[in-house]
Amino acid sequence: MNIKRLFAFAAFILTIKALSAQQVQMTMTDTSHQVISKYIYGHFAEDLGRCIYGGFWVDSNLDVAKNDRLRLDVIDALKKLHIPVLRWPGGCFADQYHWEDGIGDRSKRPVRVNTTWGMVPDDNSFGTDEFLKLCKLLGTEPYIAGNVGTGTPKEMEDWLEYLNYNGESTLADMRRKNGHDAPYNVSFWGVGNESWGCGGNMTPEYYSDLYKRYSEFCKDYPGTKLKKIASGANSDDYHWTEVCMKNIPVSNMWGISMHYYTIVNTWNEKGSATNFGEDGYFNGMKKCLDIETLINKHSAIMDKYDPQKKVALVVDEWGIWTDAEPGTNPAFLYQQNSLRDALIAASTLNIFNIHSDRIKMANLAQIVNVLQALVLTDKEKMLLTPTYYILDMYQYHQDATLIPLKFQSPLYAYGNENIPAINASASRDSNGAVHITLVNLDPRKEITINTTVPASLKSVTGEILNSDKYTDINTFDNPGKVKLKAFTGAALKGSALSVKMPAHSAVMLELK
Ligand code: AHR
Repeated sequence: MNIKRLFAFAAFILTIKALSAQQVQMTMTDTSHQVISKYIYGHFAEDLGRCIYGGFWVDSNLDVAKNDRLRLDVIDALKKLHIPVLRWPGGCFADQYHWEDGIGDRSKRPVRVNTTWGMVPDDNSFGTDEFLKLCKLLGTEPYIAGNVGTGTPKEMEDWLEYLNYNGESTLADMRRKNGHDAPYNVSFWGVGNESWGCGGNMTPEYYSDLYKRYSEFCKDYPGTKLKKIASGANSDDYHWTEVCMKNIPVSNMWGISMHYYTIVNTWNEKGSATNFGEDGYFNGMKKCLDIETLINKHSAIMDKYDPQKKVALVVDEWGIWTDAEPGTNPAFLYQQNSLRDALIAASTLNIFNIHSDRIKMANLAQIVNVLQALVLTDKEKMLLTPTYYILDMYQYHQDATLIPLKFQSPLYAYGNENIPAINASASRDSNGAVHITLVNLDPRKEITINTTVPASLKSVTGEILNSDKYTDINTFDNPGKVKLKAFTGAALKGSALSVKMPAHSAVMLELK
């Protein structure tokens, strides 16, 4: 190649680079007092597939470290995330669960059929006391979903007495006999689950009446103020929220739930967790970002009845739901987890942070071996999914003060559609450190973000989650393919911060 041609070629490459490199100007307005509730970083463990049985609660013969039958390598990995709250026993299973089946001598507990998830026998060896022990080992607060669909108000009332009463009563004595002298002080309490569907196919009018009836018997025993959560809407069912907010007094609920799953294709053919092209990537991102519209619309309805925002919007089931892994029981909802899914989690959590004036709790579905799991296990082996690392990076936002960000995102276009390529949120913790979490959804372009930070911040460090391909996953043979790395793409000169976000990546910056 002669020198003239070489220059022409170099100029061409530079032009292409300049066209594909994009710049975003971001402003931080450090004036808010909005606290990002730590409970937004909550999780969900249903008696479903291998989440509890075979996930947390394993066979006594399995060759792993255990406390009773609770698997400690899984618990130790999750402890690092400082999980604030764990929801159990469902999900749909909650409305078929009778708590008295799961207490006392394990050899005498009845075997029931898990009719909701695969018609498999359930020996009830994991029950209330085992769940609360799991919460203690994880250092997390329990959130129990009570049974409205097939249970009675008396059953719910008794469960709470067993859990929370410190005085003299047969039920409190039963708890003592089962090894727990002190009351458990369980405060997060769900009154049914998906009562519009698997929880009983109810209308919101009927459910809101039932809510009032059941919740009347959910008592605040001395030392524990219950935070009652009404079973809320399925994604865009605004009528459900409207009727419940109208019929249930604001003073009678801590929160109302909303469930939203990212479904890439359709409910019948959700799409593979691992084998997808750019359409599966783009659609996944687009559907995940749709949650912001739902939050805005449900919040607007709630604002009408509760302008002071006393009632929380509780997104107690969210995440990507794909086809089950080939060769596994489809009713067990076991799916792999790619970089795409991690970016879905990162983007959703940025949205929750921004809307933390109304969202006070969220629970990713589900924590181990089910749906968008953080941990997958195969007999003695375990791995951390790409989504695990997002929860690791984002934990700094728990109970920190939101710092609103303003910016115009470049668009990531695919076919005739486009979505914002960049999403972000930021917060200041109680020590004054600022954490910014940034996501670049564009699978091809690096994007540079420029902002001015307060002069008091003198240093920047960071972590990044990305990989060569958005389909990349961790497997039992190669568990470390997608993991956090130190991020070197941020530069702080005076108060000018510049961040080079690689294609399909999530970054957490810490400024001190
Ligand atoms: O998370 C799986 C299921 O999805 C839950 O049991 C149910 O509440 C929802 O439909």
